[in-house]
Amino acid sequence: MQNFEQFLLDNLPTSTSIHPTYEKALSQMLVAGGKRFRPALLLGVVKAYNPLLCEGARGVALAVELLHTYSLIHDDLPAMDNSPLRRGEPTLHVLYDEVTAILVGDALNTYSFEVLSETPFSDYTRVKLINILAKNGGLNGMVLGQAIDCYFENKPLKLEDIKVLHTNKTAKLIAASMQMGAVIVGKEELGEKLYDFGIKLGLLFQIQDDILDVTQSTSEAGKLTNNDQCKNSFVTILGLDIAMKEADALALELSDEMGSFEENLQSELSPVLTKYINRHKN
Ligand code: IPE
Ligand code: IPE
Ligand code: MG
Ligand code: MG
Ligand code: MG
Repeated sequence: MQNFEQFLLDNLPTSTSIHPTYEKALSQMLVAGGKRFRPALLLGVVKAYNPLLCEGARGVALAVELLHTYSLIHDDLPAMDNSPLRRGEPTLHVLYDEVTAILVGDALNTYSFEVLSETPFSDYTRVKLINILAKNGGLNGMVLGQAIDCYFENKPLKLEDIKVLHTNKTAKLIAASMQMGAVIVGKEELGEKLYDFGIKLGLLFQIQDDILDVTQSTSEAGKLTNNDQCKNSFVTILGLDIAMKEADALALELSDEMGSFEENLQSELSPVLTKYINRHKN
């Protein structure tokens, strides 16, 4: 089976028109790379329970990556985090203009659901997948998190509210990826359990991202670092030491919880999780 990366390259959004740069801009941030963390989680769950479904599940993983990439393009806009670099490349509003970055984000958002609706699964499964992605990536998920994140710049929040912010802007999409993997293999109950695990994993992922903002250089991160001063990040609110301790505690809790997963699931997820679970220490 062709791997996810090749599948993504073969399924880039296309559009032929009189517009000289639109089509190139549509795929640039996708081709630039990234960790592909969410696709790896989703495909890991599918592979653990039904490897034969992995081929079709790549479209679902692509849909998640498309929505995630749109969120990054908008996150970097001047009105949001105003960042000139993403995935080691200049951001679209720098390369082209803000209009292009806004519209490419819009296009990837809707293309995500187009791809998802065309995956080779039953009507029931596809509707369920569309529902999970929309619920977690949309108005009461990632978008809400981004709204809170930007509204409360320079307005310090309580720790419990920062957790709500991080849960929405980052954890819900990560949790949804795991749940979607379970839905594909027809294990909805497992999906609920993986969703809860994914929320904790996503919270850890965002705390680590907050830590890396102050511990990594822009070239190491491939994105502008030291850019969170006005944000409610774990580091700006708690300080680096306590943020590290929070991350350590969550990483330990997640490792323990993974021990309760069935062996096949553990062995599929552990390569991706061990790669990232302690990344705040790198
Ligand atoms: C960055 O996500 C934004 C956060 C939610 C922390 P990733 O760290 O997964 O970014 P890529 O996909 O690897 O570029
Ligand atoms: C963004 O969080 C989360 C998204 C929904 C895109 P950040 O603003 O911390 O992500 P980076 O650090 O720019 O990747
Ligand atoms: Mg942001
Ligand atoms: Mg940002
Ligand atoms: Mg960040």
